Amino acid sequence: MPDSQDPGARQPAPPRFLLFEYSELNPAMRADPHALFDPQRRERPVEHDGMIPAMLISAYGVGRESLMDRSLSRNFDDAAPENPVIANVRRLNAAMAAEFGKHDSMLTLDDPDHGRVRGIVAEAFLKRAAGAQGLVAQIIDAQIDALAGRETFDAVNDYAARIPIQVLGTILGSPPEMFESLKVWTEAGQLAFDPTKSAEQEKLALDGRRGILSHFKELMEARRAAPQDDLVSDLLAAQANGAPIDDNEILFNLFALLVAGHLTTADLIGNGIYLLLTHDEARQAILADPKLITGAVEEILRYEPPISFSARFAKADGKAGGCPYHKGDALVVSLISANRDEDRIDDPHRFDITRRPNPHLSFGAGAHICVGAPLARIEGQTAILKLLQRFPHLRKVDDSPPDWRVVPGVRGLAKLDVITE
Ligand code: HEM
Repeated sequence: MPDSQDPGARQPAPPRFLLFEYSELNPAMRADPHALFDPQRRERPVEHDGMIPAMLISAYGVGRESLMDRSLSRNFDDAAPENPVIANVRRLNAAMAAEFGKHDSMLTLDDPDHGRVRGIVAEAFLKRAAGAQGLVAQIIDAQIDALAGRETFDAVNDYAARIPIQVLGTILGSPPEMFESLKVWTEAGQLAFDPTKSAEQEKLALDGRRGILSHFKELMEARRAAPQDDLVSDLLAAQANGAPIDDNEILFNLFALLVAGHLTTADLIGNGIYLLLTHDEARQAILADPKLITGAVEEILRYEPPISFSARFAKADGKAGGCPYHKGDALVVSLISANRDEDRIDDPHRFDITRRPNPHLSFGAGAHICVGAPLARIEGQTAILKLLQRFPHLRKVDDSPPDWRVVPGVRGLAKLDVITE
């Protein structure tokens, strides 16, 4: 007798929309990702999504291997268009391409173009980042001075989210009067990967991208006419000296540096303050021995990674961790889950600022590993340490659960109200 006529027969389970369940759009995932990821990683470390052409990879080993696999692509044109996230990003990119040219940043290029462009941009950027300690300290001191005398403040919006935009704006060469607009435009774009965003949010994201690209286009023209001491001038000088990079590539890489470097670093700082206010022993240890901040920032990155997943696209059929995938599939690696994989990390749910080694995947891995990691580390270490030192009695206003932002792919706090005494 067919199942449908047998009232006692089990119905087949409906296909699971894994990438939704495991994204920040799911309140249960935001509240306690590990209650979902721990069993998933143990039982199905690689699993095909039931609804869209994508695989969720939650184990460290196969996750790292996939990020490092150079046969996989970062180019959205290699991803199956039925994937709603991909369709969404492609639509935004196509609208911008019509106005500014093709999105040619290192974020989405593959070799050989990726290696060529990344080599030139990273060399110039890392030189600037290496000399940024003084600038970062100065910006953070001014930001803390602005909080003096306040009994309460929001450690995310009044502090963490104000720092990276000033650091990046100054390094890139934007005038200070543009910083607030660049911040608003960048934040409007954070929903780029959210297929559920409203028409109004989509317009804000588009306007934000347009604002940033127009600004950098004008800045490039100004610096070409009159170079200054900034990254835009460095990249134009490299081009004039024969470095193989065109104007479109410079424009879109300036955009990428800003967009990839603002909220991520703000979230590192915000998550770090939250974790140290809720782990007093670690906070007291850092206050007693400030050198511990270096390891503490690595542990903060591991424990609450600001970017919760990173993806690659399959250019041909293949297998990851024994699980078959098809051409066009997105291989989505959960950095949140990989960082808590007991097969790679001892006692992974313990927050331990002295953990050595700490091989977290929060900056990704392989050819696309985060280019801004050295700057993010300087900002994170300086911003968290200086705030704790200035306000040694800092505490959360109450015991309410953390207010995680509802943005897929992002693990950061919407706000964090604190009291200084
Ligand atoms: C705590 C802060 C940050 C985190 C957690 C973070 C995380 C990441 C991750 C996960 C990736 C993808 C790597 C992969 O898929 O293998 C990435 C790439 C990238 N990040 Fe960061 N990032 C941070 C800060 C920054 C900063 C400050 C900048 C620059 C100003 C930056 C610029 C970039 C760029 C340009 C890429 C693309 C590299 C490529 O595709 O070759 N990031 N980042």
